[in-house]
Amino acid sequence: MNAYKINKGGPAGPCCFVVFGANGDLTKRLLVPALYNLAATGLLPENFAIVGVMRRPTEDGEFRQMLVDGLKQFATRPVEQAVADKLFSCVSSVVAQPDKPESFRDLADHLAKIEEARNTGGNRLFYLATPPTGFAPITHQLAEVGLTQEEPGGPWRRVIVEKPFGTDLASAQALNRQLLSVLSEDQIYRMDHYLGKETVQNIMILRFANGLFEPIWNRDHIEHVQISVAETVNVERRGAFYDNTGALRDMVPNHLCQLLSLIAMEPPAKYSANSVRSEKAEALAAITHYTPEEAIANSVRAQYGAGTIKGEGVIPYREAQDVKPDSTTPTYVALKFGIDNWRWAGVPFYLRTGKALAKRKTEVAIKFKDAPISMFRDTALSGMAQNVLVLDIQPDEGITLHFNAKVPGPSVDLAPVGMAFKYKDYFEAAASTGYETLIYDCMIGDAMLFQRADGVEAGWSAVQPFLDAWAAAGQAGLATYEAGSEGPAAADELLERDGRAWRSIS
Ligand code: BG6
Repeated sequence: MNAYKINKGGPAGPCCFVVFGANGDLTKRLLVPALYNLAATGLLPENFAIVGVMRRPTEDGEFRQMLVDGLKQFATRPVEQAVADKLFSCVSSVVAQPDKPESFRDLADHLAKIEEARNTGGNRLFYLATPPTGFAPITHQLAEVGLTQEEPGGPWRRVIVEKPFGTDLASAQALNRQLLSVLSEDQIYRMDHYLGKETVQNIMILRFANGLFEPIWNRDHIEHVQISVAETVNVERRGAFYDNTGALRDMVPNHLCQLLSLIAMEPPAKYSANSVRSEKAEALAAITHYTPEEAIANSVRAQYGAGTIKGEGVIPYREAQDVKPDSTTPTYVALKFGIDNWRWAGVPFYLRTGKALAKRKTEVAIKFKDAPISMFRDTALSGMAQNVLVLDIQPDEGITLHFNAKVPGPSVDLAPVGMAFKYKDYFEAAASTGYETLIYDCMIGDAMLFQRADGVEAGWSAVQPFLDAWAAAGQAGLATYEAGSEGPAAADELLERDGRAWRSIS
């Protein structure tokens, strides 16, 4: 197969990968397997070092063992010993805590030694895999000791900030202000792991590398859009985090807004980080701003009750560990958005996401306007299927176009059929964590798949009216749904009143 390639050019240049939260879950589960996959595919620099920043003294050997164990448990491909040995040969650890500013001097001394020994040229990637309360203080201390300082023509210093980025619009703005007071925007890489998914990246390719779709990608031809992120997992042991967060904050301003912006954005002038991120932010900024009454009328929030998923009993959300028995935190939300611009005026975007649902499925469905039916008025035609373009993001990655075809035979009858593209039929992709591209892109200085300050704030602006209206409403209007179902009846009603229906998730 001929493949057109935008070449990113082989292994990244020399650098030191400094991870805060080094003994946390994210490091073990995602960063270590991702670094291994990069090493196995020859994309890590030859001159490389991993430095784990700890809260308590840890021997280098102990830290290395932690990483080795993490890889053993979470590798996405068979581990080649030689690759792993090389990767873990450059591991060291150091203690630093933002509430002990002098410890950042120790970090600076440690880095100076490692950088000399490993010849990493002073390029530094700081990965903040910590709870969000750490983001601003750590960055501040790094800057205080000059570790993030960049000089023209000198080595680069970049910071990856994990999610959640804020808990509402005001806190996201405050965090942006704090980070931007010590770093420049192009040093900040705000993570949204949805952007690392191949199928999410492919939305832009589908739209802009094909002449077919763009002319019909607007309100003249598209009737509505559905974006669904359904999960079967329940809150499990994340109650303490989740009960303060909920489905809206956890999923919508970031992952669902990323999907929405890729569907709704105008064609960027260039395939470059700034052009793409500007268009995405513009699309999000055009989302209708609701009054509190409109926010209530255009949303549904719900919690799961008892039920069964994959044959296993699920206890009600309110009985889960670390969840308040009278919690009003939603585990499911459905929203109707409008986008106030020339392309989308009058085209509703329906978004839904929830935990403990019937099936794990992320998809975007573009429903096109129906054909005028008058030509078939005098036939026995029972009805026409809808023209829908479905982008299957996960788990069965692909794209399907649904349309009508004539059922063979003497009478005129139609049946819904589909043209389906499955990734696995065309491409062989080794299993990955989704973090590989993101880490590599940060090392080579390509921020396209990271969020810019204006994009993050536009996402929060879109959901803020719901946060405010729901906080004021409290318990009132909070629905429930059975675990293992497709969601609450109220979500169906949200579309029914517009004469529409959700696509089934199962
Ligand atoms: C995370 C959320 O950002 O995304 C989790 O905090 C959620 O609650 C997860 O389960 C979903 O990611 P994915 O890649 O499994 O769709």
